[in-house]
Amino acid sequence: LAVDDGLRTGYHFQPPKHWINDPNGVMYYKGVYHLFYQYNPKGAVWGNIVWAHAVSTDLVDWIMLPPAIYPTAPFDVNGCWSGSATVLPDGTPVIMYTGIDGENRQVQNVAYPKDLSDPYLREWVKPDYNPVIAPGPGMNATAFRDPTTAWQGPDGLWRLVIGTKDNHRGLAVLYRSRDFKRWAPAKRALHSGDTGMWECPDFYPVTTSPAVGSGGGGSGNGTKHVLKVSLDLTRFEYYTFGEYDHATDTYVPDAALADGNDGLRYDYGNFYASKTFLDTAKQRRVLWGWANESDSATADIRKGWAGVQAIPRKIWLSSDGKQLVQWPVAEIESLRGAHANVTDTLVAGGSHFEVTGLASAAQADVEASFQVMDLDKAEPFDPAWRGADAQTVCAARGADARGGVGPFGLWALASDEHGERTAVFFRVFKGGDGGKHVVLMCNDPSMSSHADDLYKPTFAGFVDVDIAQTGGKIALRTLIDHSVVESFGAHGKTCILSRVYPTKAVGDKARLYVFNNGESDVKVTHLNAYEMRSAKITSDAVEPTKR
Ligand code: FRU
Repeated sequence: LAVDDGLRTGYHFQPPKHWINDPNGVMYYKGVYHLFYQYNPKGAVWGNIVWAHAVSTDLVDWIMLPPAIYPTAPFDVNGCWSGSATVLPDGTPVIMYTGIDGENRQVQNVAYPKDLSDPYLREWVKPDYNPVIAPGPGMNATAFRDPTTAWQGPDGLWRLVIGTKDNHRGLAVLYRSRDFKRWAPAKRALHSGDTGMWECPDFYPVTTSPAVGSGGGGSGNGTKHVLKVSLDLTRFEYYTFGEYDHATDTYVPDAALADGNDGLRYDYGNFYASKTFLDTAKQRRVLWGWANESDSATADIRKGWAGVQAIPRKIWLSSDGKQLVQWPVAEIESLRGAHANVTDTLVAGGSHFEVTGLASAAQADVEASFQVMDLDKAEPFDPAWRGADAQTVCAARGADARGGVGPFGLWALASDEHGERTAVFFRVFKGGDGGKHVVLMCNDPSMSSHADDLYKPTFAGFVDVDIAQTGGKIALRTLIDHSVVESFGAHGKTCILSRVYPTKAVGDKARLYVFNNGESDVKVTHLNAYEMRSAKITSDAVEPTKR
């Protein structure tokens, strides 16, 4: 059995065909959202990388434009890799990206819009003085890439960081410039970790308010700075946040936060090379991330496409200041159609029920609130799991392993007899730190497909909630989109995106269930499942040369 085209997404961003990876240069400029992304114009595997370009006024519907940045010069002849956009104070946007030069060195180049009066900024010009940053002596020239959006210090100088490594040490190296043209390396890296190469760093201010100001400034007064990196060795991202002193360019992560494997993640699933931008129209910070396929390269070639972008997420600091919180941008709710509703329905231990009334649950937005009726039934947290990551625990106790409290949650993309299903669920243990319950959120795709040749890892994260304090209540939102199951636990505290490839639970055959495999009964206090309309993806009919 093979993966087929019925699995293209309806409202998660995808171009009509070919390979995509990292979101690049994301920005809001004069009423238009820009999404550039790594793209192979020739096929469904990685290669021939250019910056494809799409624009939107609402982050939902997209107009596909011709590639904006592609190899043209000695400084990018072997590829135009990831980078970021910065909107300068005079309103001009500038892109800085990694070019792969004739000697396969990674160098940083700038590009400016050719015509600021073109609302879509279709064409970009690369000045002859590129590259503006080349790897210095002693630096690793094949691991020196992915410049961040720049920020301006009180001294008026621009700063940005670039991802690199020194042997096994990942580094975010800092550069400064007065004019965006001549850049000088700082003596010290902004931060580093013993984790291997740091790809796609991102550095930005956050506060506990989802509404943000214009950014800039150092930390303090409730502002923290976030540093996120992507680890090419393990293919996951983690972040820290802490104090950034603008005057000395020192970044000190909060003491409770770890670098590397134990670090906090935006997403505990398939989500990589992410990047944020400041949306000045809506005073929010928005996160874009790439979700790779988890079928085989052969399947990708047969399908003719590979890779999607996760739903753009608003991101801010939780009110307790302990982690970041994310939520799908409100705009996607405009795609909601008919919905099914469940209220105050008890799901006895060991039972399940189907959420009926949707024409199809292949493209849906599900918001659910559960209440555990008897938290005392929680099993003790096995001391052997202390220090283990959630994924290890969840892999040991999958969706079908009976528990005390949980597993309970959703079977998404389920077939008739739920022979195919992707389980998104919570499991609660007692005996955590300070006697609190340990809450685990998992995505178990082991039953997701009858197809073979699929990578089906269990994904999981801990959820930082005191479930006794909430009276046993916990919320789950899951965006289902044919081959995407993207979940937000506890109002966005723990997020998991998973790619799955059902063979039967496709189109109007896809169903949705609530299940409870624990001893304790669980009440669905409310559940709304909305059918989602497809986003409009149109291509720009006007030839750029004819404008
Ligand atoms: C991350 C990454 C970046 C690089 C780009 C190349 O997925 O490897 O480090 O710039 O993809 O496509």
